[in-house]
Amino acid sequence: MTALTLSTAAAPGLRADAIVIGVAKGAASTSGGLVVAPGAEAVDKAYDGKLAGVLETLGASGAEGEVTKLPAPAGFKAPLVVAVGLGAEPEDPKDGAYDGEALRKAAGVAARALAGSKKAAFALPLGDAGDVGAVAEGVLLGAYAFDAYKGNGNNAQDKKKNGKAPLAEAALLGGKPRDKEHKAAIERATAVSEELNRARDLINTPPNDLNPESFAAIVSAAAKEHGIKVQVLDEKALTKGGYGGILGVGSGSAAGPRLVKLTYTSSKAAKHLAFVGKGITYDSGGISLKPAGHNETMKCDMSGAAAVFAAVVAAARIGLDVNVTGWLALAENMPSGSAVRPGDVLRMYSGKTVEVLNTDAEGRLVLADALWAASQEKPDAIVDVATLTGAMVLALGNRTFGVMANDDAFRSAIVEAAEEVGEASWPMPLPEHLRKGMDSPTADIANMGERMGGGLVAGLFLREFVGEGITWGHLDIAGPAFNEGGPFGYTPKGGTGSAVRTLVRLAELTASGDLG
Ligand code: BES
Ligand code: MN
Ligand code: ZN
Repeated sequence: MTALTLSTAAAPGLRADAIVIGVAKGAASTSGGLVVAPGAEAVDKAYDGKLAGVLETLGASGAEGEVTKLPAPAGFKAPLVVAVGLGAEPEDPKDGAYDGEALRKAAGVAARALAGSKKAAFALPLGDAGDVGAVAEGVLLGAYAFDAYKGNGNNAQDKKKNGKAPLAEAALLGGKPRDKEHKAAIERATAVSEELNRARDLINTPPNDLNPESFAAIVSAAAKEHGIKVQVLDEKALTKGGYGGILGVGSGSAAGPRLVKLTYTSSKAAKHLAFVGKGITYDSGGISLKPAGHNETMKCDMSGAAAVFAAVVAAARIGLDVNVTGWLALAENMPSGSAVRPGDVLRMYSGKTVEVLNTDAEGRLVLADALWAASQEKPDAIVDVATLTGAMVLALGNRTFGVMANDDAFRSAIVEAAEEVGEASWPMPLPEHLRKGMDSPTADIANMGERMGGGLVAGLFLREFVGEGITWGHLDIAGPAFNEGGPFGYTPKGGTGSAVRTLVRLAELTASGDLG
């Protein structure tokens, strides 16, 4: 990953391949023209204060996502200036007035545009330590590339053909290397981004290489490195424990299911949070097979488990004063002679029976067991993350996740936490009248209900498996988990690492006593 440093160096004397500066669409006072953002004063000065005009001549406007490259002014050691758009200039454009998410996106866009370069200096408007963290995250997340399967690995020529290496080094100008808060911001951003990028790697790994067993092995190795306790329940243990949901979903695959429990404890913790992740390493739909056109990206169906894994490790690396348990419900949903059938009844870990009407509604089955397992420890709150329903994608599109909860204040707190870290989310209801659509003539509940409001129906199903009196939230990330379009901001094509930053933020808020 890109190496980050805080630097007090002045731009002209800096040895780097490029200097990144911010530009914005001016507020009304400048009649909407391009303005150079704070942080780039030295560069502007070397252009005799005419940099805004030069950039406008080149067609730049300051719009979000825009990249304009120009030769550095005479006397600069770096050969190139990269001007990146920040979008609209804030009303009061003093230092630090730029929104954290605007900085994060711009840094990500610039880092991606600089793929193939060794070192870049970022001269973006930095106000407080929060801005330092945002730019750091933007760089680390924007520079991400997944090339493990490009070329044959032994052939450097092939690798090169297939894409440029990510930006190797980034110096944040205007950062204070000896400032406690700035240093902490860099450390936090590094821990969160490295783990988030590892989640992206897992999501992008093809399902012939990532199955429940290999996923559990990767998680175990990484967690142990960071002092996190790991317990893996294999098929034998799941059978003994009566985890009928996870076993049922996994029964069609040659690769057996797993339930992985991660335990991070802090001696100073007053609260206990449990995260539960859907980890379907491939969702073919099972006997209710998905048609072509609906299964090509279904390696992403373990994004919830990947997010939970990343968040628990990040919490441990930051050393948060909160106990966090992560539950990864891992299975591959495949059709075969041993697969669960539409019409089967599963006895779940909670003891409830479920009539499986559609084997493609498998996520709620594995989550039900993991939610009940998490509930047995009576945590202060449980949050599950899942690529659960196509209905949520239809409702909110592919950049926003839906948030449901059994507590209105908790649902609002989750949406707010997401907003703080730059993740788009929206509160969704759990309408009671949709519950009866899941009534089953044979079992306690069916795994499908009305088609309308399918995302909410899934949420209502999950709610039945949360222990009495436990605060619970549910994030349906089916839309934003996997980006099938082109990269934007700090979001690459493919696995995005959706919900990781929201979960980390929830852990932080719980640690500081600001949640629950
Ligand atoms: N993994 C899918 C949901 C999904 C859809 C994730 C699109 C990402 C993108 C889930 O297991 C599923 O198949 N859900 C069904 C449920 C239905 C059968 C009740 C769906 O949403 O169609
Ligand atoms: Mn499915
Ligand atoms: Zn699924």
